[in-house]
Amino acid sequence: PHAKFCLPARSGSSAELKPANPILLVHGGAGRRPMTVAQASGLRDALRVGYHLLDRGGSALTAVEQAIRVLEQSGLFNAGAGSRLQLDGVRRMDASIMEGDSLRAGAVASVEGIAHPIVAARLVMETTDHVMLVGPLATKFARYFKLERHPLRTIRRRLSYDVMLTRKSLAGERHGTVGAVARDRSGTVAAGASTGGIDRMLPGRVGDTPLIGCGVYADNQSGAVAMTGIGEGIIRMAVAKEICDRLAQGAFPAAAARQVLKNLVTRIQGAAGTLVLASDGRFSILHVTPRMSAGWWDGKGEPTVGDRFQ
Ligand code: GLY
Repeated sequence: PHAKFCLPARSGSSAELKPANPILLVHGGAGRRPMTVAQASGLRDALRVGYHLLDRGGSALTAVEQAIRVLEQSGLFNAGAGSRLQLDGVRRMDASIMEGDSLRAGAVASVEGIAHPIVAARLVMETTDHVMLVGPLATKFARYFKLERHPLRTIRRRLSYDVMLTRKSLAGERHGTVGAVARDRSGTVAAGASTGGIDRMLPGRVGDTPLIGCGVYADNQSGAVAMTGIGEGIIRMAVAKEICDRLAQGAFPAAAARQVLKNLVTRIQGAAGTLVLASDGRFSILHVTPRMSAGWWDGKGEPTVGDRFQ
């Protein structure tokens, strides 16, 4: 398989973190390309913004939302301002967010023309009884709340399915989804993710990112997980929930992530990376792609950012 199995550069241990010391992990996607200097700086900015909120007593949910907002705004990743086009020339974005105390979650899929799908996902969670809104009606919902518009205009391409079906491929190497997991002072965890999808998507394609249990999951009884990579495989193995279930059974974050990503590769040739934060503060960053842009900060020293966790 094309995927490479990597060990984490660093795994935290519960002994190093007091019970409710806040911590934030972010990522900017898993794939083949090295992280750029600008992307590293974007991840550090997201860690600083999110961690300072946690440090001042903010919730894990808000830290995750605001860290992802920074990454969406940057235009450096495949999310928000940097979202890729589907084959008809339209940017359709997905996002989701989940909080581990109440198990509340919100998501939007295939939204167009808004700058911050993660904010729309949180609004679905907090202002409705639903978990997910999709397509033009999710966009209309975001417009009702006057969410900031996407900076780029859409120019639709008229391509027939005859043409598009010859172009679609899951072998695209640029992923670049963004995501975050956090634990706040109360010990609550949260997870979130936002994406413009993958290369050469059919119009209407939705990946793992807005699907609770696939792209993200958060439960104070286990931990928080945010996935990146090719969504089709992540969906088929419900990866985020699977990792959380293993945490709940007592597995260490690195062991849970390693086993589930190994299964993803061996059973269905998937390609993914993950942020895993157990509710006791132990964590792991792991990928089976050559690289994953990611980082973490617990307020000590400077934020750690890298693109190879092995
Ligand atoms: N993981 C992002 C996607 O497949 O859309």
